[in-house]
Amino acid sequence: MKVLVTGGCGYIGSHTVVELLNDKQEVVIVDNLVNSKKEVLEKIKEITGKEVKFYEEDLCNLQELKHIFEKEKFDSIIHFAGLKAVGESVSKPLMYYQNNLISTLNLLECMQEFAVKKIVFSSSATVYGNPKTLPIKEDFPLSTTNPYGTTKLMIENILTDVYKANLDYDITVLRYFNPIGAHKSGLIGEDPNGIPNNLMPYIVKVATNKLPVLNIYGNDYNTVDGTGVRDYIHVLDLAHGHLLALKNKKTGLKIYNLGTGRGTSVLELVNKFQEVNHIKVNYQITKRRDGDIDACYANCDKAKEELGFTTKYTLEDMCKDSYNYVKKNTIQ
Ligand code: NAD
Ligand code: WQD
Repeated sequence: MKVLVTGGCGYIGSHTVVELLNDKQEVVIVDNLVNSKKEVLEKIKEITGKEVKFYEEDLCNLQELKHIFEKEKFDSIIHFAGLKAVGESVSKPLMYYQNNLISTLNLLECMQEFAVKKIVFSSSATVYGNPKTLPIKEDFPLSTTNPYGTTKLMIENILTDVYKANLDYDITVLRYFNPIGAHKSGLIGEDPNGIPNNLMPYIVKVATNKLPVLNIYGNDYNTVDGTGVRDYIHVLDLAHGHLLALKNKKTGLKIYNLGTGRGTSVLELVNKFQEVNHIKVNYQITKRRDGDIDACYANCDKAKEELGFTTKYTLEDMCKDSYNYVKKNTIQ
């Protein structure tokens, strides 16, 4: 199967490309490198022994995208490309709406013109807002608290309308929980520039002395130890979920949570990281971060039943692999 992977140089995309290549799928990446580097392609080759075809292009450029579709004749699409920083989306909402929505509309237009009927889309647990009960199931009410999340929900709604008008389309929406970890080789992973927004990249920066102290945002939540609880999933398990979604025989419009079903608090994650990596992580408790919720974890029964999705990596793996990647790629 010839698969277009948009955003394939990014964190989750690159791990999924490795998974697809290992499964002998033919992969073409389109990425404008706004949040990734071209060197990822060499790393993917080093891991898989396979060259991957790459177009450095912005999906918002419809004419160029059409040329790529005309030339490549894709069978299916996995659509990762998008901007993802929640805080930045609050200060630059237009940039988020323009990039995330226009890129997706362009992709859908190309699908129609070039008769590509299968797409897997990267959505997020953020579309559940503040859930009333846990664990979260796919049919829970949806709401968002920031422009980033709203782009995800809007795209889900657009995909639903497109499906209603094209019942022969095969659309899978994957709602990821909190992806962390990295490839076992330490060649690809996540190491954002500057000060990270997300917890694991921040922990790793403190562990590697790039930042002095981790701020834990609040210890008065209604959770096991007062710190926020999330469902952390190893990026390798997530990548495998995409392969399963791509090969799934069930057609139609399908929505799946991809998580582990287990909640872990901030303190539990920090303690596990220290324990498995034998390193101290300085932290201090500070005030809550705006928009954060007490707890969020998935019910993944639907993905298990319909995709055969299960996770195999533990929290230990996630902590070890995140640290290993950054250590291996940091010039001391
Ligand atoms: P990432 O930033 O590492 O990867 C996204 C890639 O898309 C980058 O390589 C970037 O250069 C590219 N891109 C962005 N806009 C583009 C455009 N207009 N044209 C071409 N390329 C473009 O992010 P990630 O963590 O790998 O996330 C992948 C997807 O999963 C995103 O859609 C994100 O919103 C979603 N998601 C991520 C998380 C998470 O915590 N990482 C959680 C839920 C959902
Ligand atoms: C996890 C926990 C924080 C940083 C975000 C997006 C979501 C999805 C995944 C894309 C929370 C605490 C964090 C820090 C801390 N992305 N924390 N100190 O907020 O669950 O989800 O990423 O779709 O849309 O909102 O993830 O890693 O930012 O936070 O104490 O420096 O860690 O309060 O409890 P979050 P996170």
